[in-house]
Amino acid sequence: GKGIAVFTSGGDSQGMNAAVRAVVRMGIYLGCKVYFIKEGYQGMVDGGDNIVEANWSSVSCIIHKGGTIIGSARCLAFKEKEGRKKAAYHLIEKGITNLVVIGGDGSLTGADLFRQEWSDLLDALLADGKITKDQREKNKTLSIAGLVGSIDNDFCGTDMTIGTDSALHRIIEATDAIVSTAYSHQRTFIMEVMGRHCGYLALVAALTSEADYVFIPEDPVPVDWPDKLCKKLMQERSAGQRLNIIIIAEGAIDREGRPITAEDVKKVVVDNLNQDTRITVLGHVQRGGNPSAFDRVLGSRMGAEAVMALMEAEEHTEPCVISLDGNQAVRLPLMECVKQTKAVAQAMAVKDWDKAVSLRGKS
Ligand code: F6P
Repeated sequence: GKGIAVFTSGGDSQGMNAAVRAVVRMGIYLGCKVYFIKEGYQGMVDGGDNIVEANWSSVSCIIHKGGTIIGSARCLAFKEKEGRKKAAYHLIEKGITNLVVIGGDGSLTGADLFRQEWSDLLDALLADGKITKDQREKNKTLSIAGLVGSIDNDFCGTDMTIGTDSALHRIIEATDAIVSTAYSHQRTFIMEVMGRHCGYLALVAALTSEADYVFIPEDPVPVDWPDKLCKKLMQERSAGQRLNIIIIAEGAIDREGRPITAEDVKKVVVDNLNQDTRITVLGHVQRGGNPSAFDRVLGSRMGAEAVMALMEAEEHTEPCVISLDGNQAVRLPLMECVKQTKAVAQAMAVKDWDKAVSLRGKS
């Protein structure tokens, strides 16, 4: 059977374990040898005990757990060709020519580069006498399937990334808790949520917590936002509301592209309205804890589909990313999705918010 390895890379997210489990079990079911690569690309570069064969029971009791049991890291060595050469050697040692990479766009881009270079890396290893001609021939093609694990939901091509739903559950628990105490004291709360340059978590958090105002990077507020914010808060209070909730994405900016922080917002509220105001920064709580049912199912489906894609891959098959389209698991060209995700970032960098939003919406 084929040699498949699965690894998680970049920031962790809930549901990654479900995906790892599905890759291992689907792989074994189809007669493959399945390996874990621990600590992401770093484990691939370091080899040794970081690359171990998995069996059916090594993924028992992990679907419930947050994070990733095989570890994740941001790896500098893999950015260098020398590092990638070492990684290639460690894979060939074990006969691994199929990779399931679970991570964000950076991790998926790294995998694509690795695949493009694969032939050169093998030639270099052959020239160094590290591998034989026979090994060179047997392992000549590297196939890749990507899964997007991130709480940010910032990847083009998939409706939901693995972890987003669980992060929203964490956020909702927190906003519900905050609302009850805010109500008692007639306070205003500013809640900062994660998402990097994506406002998805903030937007859904605002909708589900009945927030009065939300700051997201994709729809930057005009420079006179303090007036608009104060007017809205006053309007709600005079309609009888005892509290105000403001959600701010960590990547919030104004139309000039300047960051807006929770502290900036607090200052506006306190200086203009003299409201009793507190800030809650949710931080990594959002990325921890058990995965939701949705993320367990999503991770499982995506993991199984990734193995099927690798089984069907031929010499010239382009790497794919397994995406959710409506309720379907679909395979999309990895690099097109990465390119589009980068185009969103580019549009935002040049303050073309409309373009960014329309690009992000298209799969
Ligand atoms: O991409 C996931 C994420 O949690 C972002 O929402 C956040 O900006 C970032 O990672 C935090 O990174 P770190 O875990 O390195 O502090």
